[in-house]
Amino acid sequence: MGANEKVNILMVDDQPSKLLSYEVILGELGENLIKARSGREALDYLLKTDVAVVLMDVSMPDLDGFELADMIRQHPRFQDIAIIFISAVHLTDLDRLRGYEQGAVDYISVPVVPELLRAKVSVFADLNRKTRQLETLNEELRRLSARLIAAQDDERRRIARELHDGLGQELAAAKMMVDGILRPGQTAERKESAALECSSMIDRAVRQVRSISHLLHPPLLDELGLQSALQFYVQGFTTRSGIATTMKSDPPEFPRLSAEMETAIFRVVQEALTNVLRHSGASKALVELTHAGTQVVLSVRDDGKGMSEKTIQFQAGSVGIGIGGIKQRIEEFNGRILLKNTDPGSLVEVMIPVSSSGS
Ligand SMILES: Nc1ncnc2c1ncn2[C@@H]1O[C@H](COP(=O)(O)OP(=O)(O)OP(=O)(O)O)[C@@H](O)[C@H]1O
Ligand SMILES: [Mg+2]
Repeated sequence: MGANEKVNILMVDDQPSKLLSYEVILGELGENLIKARSGREALDYLLKTDVAVVLMDVSMPDLDGFELADMIRQHPRFQDIAIIFISAVHLTDLDRLRGYEQGAVDYISVPVVPELLRAKVSVFADLNRKTRQLETLNEELRRLSARLIAAQDDERRRIARELHDGLGQELAAAKMMVDGILRPGQTAERKESAALECSSMIDRAVRQVRSISHLLHPPLLDELGLQSALQFYVQGFTTRSGIATTMKSDPPEFPRLSAEMETAIFRVVQEALTNVLRHSGASKALVELTHAGTQVVLSVRDDGKGMSEKTIQFQAGSVGIGIGGIKQRIEEFNGRILLKNTDPGSLVEVMIPVSSSGS
């Protein structure tokens, strides 16, 4: 539910003139107003629609307000509905107590003061809206954290496999070679050729350690800064993926940013390019890094098939950990992310405010 979505307010009174006057009073709140002429009619509505606030007359002929409140409270789906009783007679403390036991939330006595009624209904309507927003956000959070755990497991499995199948095998073979060299009765030539083979195995192992550690944290980032690390990554990406990817930066000598921000931007490019490879079918991509006054702008474009409208609007279920993670990282720096279709292709753009010192 969005921050401005309307909620339903059910007004229950056996007198049409009263319903009309509540409608006039509450009209300016801009919520959906539903009228019911009896307790039974109100129950009918409640079963069909989600209602945030019920405004009801305490004394109605068929089912009085308290009885209706009782029935509402017994139903688990209705337990969060706020109830405002309107009573023409003076309510004794005992009556009030009866109402509260049933979970009633508020009372208003007649003559109704329009401002008071409006204020009370508006507070409950907002509360309901916020509760529902929170539920939606919680649901989204649960979904994302489940995916995050799965993604972490996948990554660990991948690293474990690379360590075992790649590095582990090379080192095991190198050890066998060394053991062979140490065995007595070997000719000098055999020892030399085994040592050469052993050396190239260790070379491959070193390269694998480097690529695994680059994957976990690109060392160039700390040493040479964002621009060079990205340049290097983009070149590697072009080779690995076959997608001709270029990188531009403005100014060409890009200033250093804080380590956290450089890492965040690097991760954004990694994720955006991985997405280009996995989802876009593009043949070209362009990464642009711009330092414009008080903000850093990073964009990743491709010439592929573009994103769905739901993804562009970050709708729940249409973005994964990738884009969800980018958004979260960037918002931690008070930045913004924009997804766009550029026909052909798509654009991921992030804007992060920076102080003039660059952090
Ligand atoms: N460059 C792109 N071109 C076309 N579609 C894209 C592009 N980038 C993202 N998408 C769409 O947006 C969706 C969400 O991307 P996101 O990175 O959040 O999740 P994912 O890549 O599916 O999974 P993961 O959580 O592993 O990253 C993708 O499933 C894909 O449909
Ligand atoms: Mg992704």
